[in-house]
Amino acid sequence: MTRTLITSALPYINGVKHLGNLVGSMLPADVYARFRRARGDETLFICATDEHGTPAELAALEAGQDVASYCREQHAIQKGLGERFGLSWDYFGRSSSPQNRELTQHLARVLWQRGHLEVRTTKQVYSHAEKRFLPDRYVIGTCPHCGYDRARGDQCENCTRVLDPTDLINPRSALSNSTEIEIRDSAHLFLKQSEFIEPLRKWIDSHEHDWPNLVLSIARKWLDEGLKDRGITRDLDWGVPVPDDIGDGKLKGKVFYVWFDAPIEYIGATKEWSDSRGKPDSEWQSWWRPASQKDVTYVQFMAKDNVPFHTVGFPVTIFGSGENWKLVDRIKGFNWLTYYGGKFSTSQKRGVFMDTALDLLPADYWRWYLMANAPESADTSFTWEHFTAVVNKDLADVLGNFVNRVTKFCIARFDGRVPGEGSYGAEETALIAELDKRIAQYGAYLEDIEFRKALAELRAIWVAGNEYLTRAAPWTHVKTDRTKAAVGVRMGLNLVHLFGHLSWPVIPVAARTIHEAIQPASEVISWPAGPMSAYLDQLDAGQVVRAPDVLFAKIADEQLAEWKTRFGGEG
Ligand code: 2FM
Ligand code: ZN
Repeated sequence: MTRTLITSALPYINGVKHLGNLVGSMLPADVYARFRRARGDETLFICATDEHGTPAELAALEAGQDVASYCREQHAIQKGLGERFGLSWDYFGRSSSPQNRELTQHLARVLWQRGHLEVRTTKQVYSHAEKRFLPDRYVIGTCPHCGYDRARGDQCENCTRVLDPTDLINPRSALSNSTEIEIRDSAHLFLKQSEFIEPLRKWIDSHEHDWPNLVLSIARKWLDEGLKDRGITRDLDWGVPVPDDIGDGKLKGKVFYVWFDAPIEYIGATKEWSDSRGKPDSEWQSWWRPASQKDVTYVQFMAKDNVPFHTVGFPVTIFGSGENWKLVDRIKGFNWLTYYGGKFSTSQKRGVFMDTALDLLPADYWRWYLMANAPESADTSFTWEHFTAVVNKDLADVLGNFVNRVTKFCIARFDGRVPGEGSYGAEETALIAELDKRIAQYGAYLEDIEFRKALAELRAIWVAGNEYLTRAAPWTHVKTDRTKAAVGVRMGLNLVHLFGHLSWPVIPVAARTIHEAIQPASEVISWPAGPMSAYLDQLDAGQVVRAPDVLFAKIADEQLAEWKTRFGGEG
């Protein structure tokens, strides 16, 4: 049996995520995980919060909390929101866990022992006001090139030139505006990435045919530009401490850089998962240290800015360790979801965030819209108009209306029981042939991780059901030819049941309600095992049918207008 390991990029701990974050990693990973489970594959879906780094420290400061409590609280919030969005993680861990600390220190230690790390002295900005080192972008000053007076120490926003904090004229702390800052020498660990260009290129080339172009081109661009050695430690308090046996005693009090320990948390969270179930290490190791790479298929989901860290950064850690860790097999990268063509912004609260979204509408509305319009081949713009149009048409008019029409009519005219009279004729045979093809295609697109195409096919399947019902018109025939009407209703009810199965990976709550109009559903609603000639004629005559309450309510014009005003339409 196929075993599939699925991870989505780890959301930063500092604050509730917006819909762009959701559709760029966590949600597609969930749809794919559900699809694999529906197919009967052994599947492990892992995520976690990414808790280290300066942004976490500063967010805690702003919230007036110590960073550990802040992270504990925010982790619980993000976990709760993810669950309400139907994200079916097997485990949602924390990169600050003891498991990740141990693994991060272990990997750093083997890299050190194998000579891939080096201690170098660097110049860092120290701020007396804050009594701490400042990361480059928290130093601001006047740009030596264009004179802009709020240039950041890593880059000038005005002229886009890349800077070093020491280039700035009149440098000051962006946190306190204090000019009492000085440059101090500070020792740091560097990972000699340049040694890995050849093995990386070979590995990336081996995925020529199974990685999307977006991912291949980003990965190759990094290699072509020449890999620089990478500083993997920071002068911060919060993070995984560098152990004493690394760095010849020169790294006391330093922590690893957040991008060094974050991907290791994919492994860490898997260990958190197996520890939480009281299992031995062999449990998580069966995923991450399989006897053969072929024993596990590992699929990662992420937005495009994360691709370099997963095609180059993390693989260097793995290659350099010389240990037999599972390498990623497939990487699904996403472009940006924009808000009216502009950026979703956490700092400026621009766009729609996961908590607010759920206050407006249940998860399935968002899940359908986001996945049907996933930014796969290009950036995609969220607008309230588009969202409303998609919900009203696909979910309310097509799917909801279909389920509603069939079940209500069965209750009104056939006693709420599957009618047994008559047999399928030419109309039904034609529909069955069409669905056999479409379902195979829908499954093939999901196998290829092509969500837009997959969901267009699912929509076409719903539409085919609707069109069939309109042609079969049992409400007309019931007056003159009850057997004919019965055939239409029976097929309609079988279709409702089928739609419950097919829709579950994408809209799990609605799919369950739909399925349960016909029969109780198991936790995982399985992929329909064809052929459709049998599948669509499986309900027993006399079986009781229920009509679900409104599955999807239409969004009214006034509602749309209100949301546009409240959230700011037109960017
Ligand atoms: O870009 C981000 O949101 C990062 N927190 C993703 C980390 S992915 C992984 F490597 F941990
Ligand atoms: Zn079923």
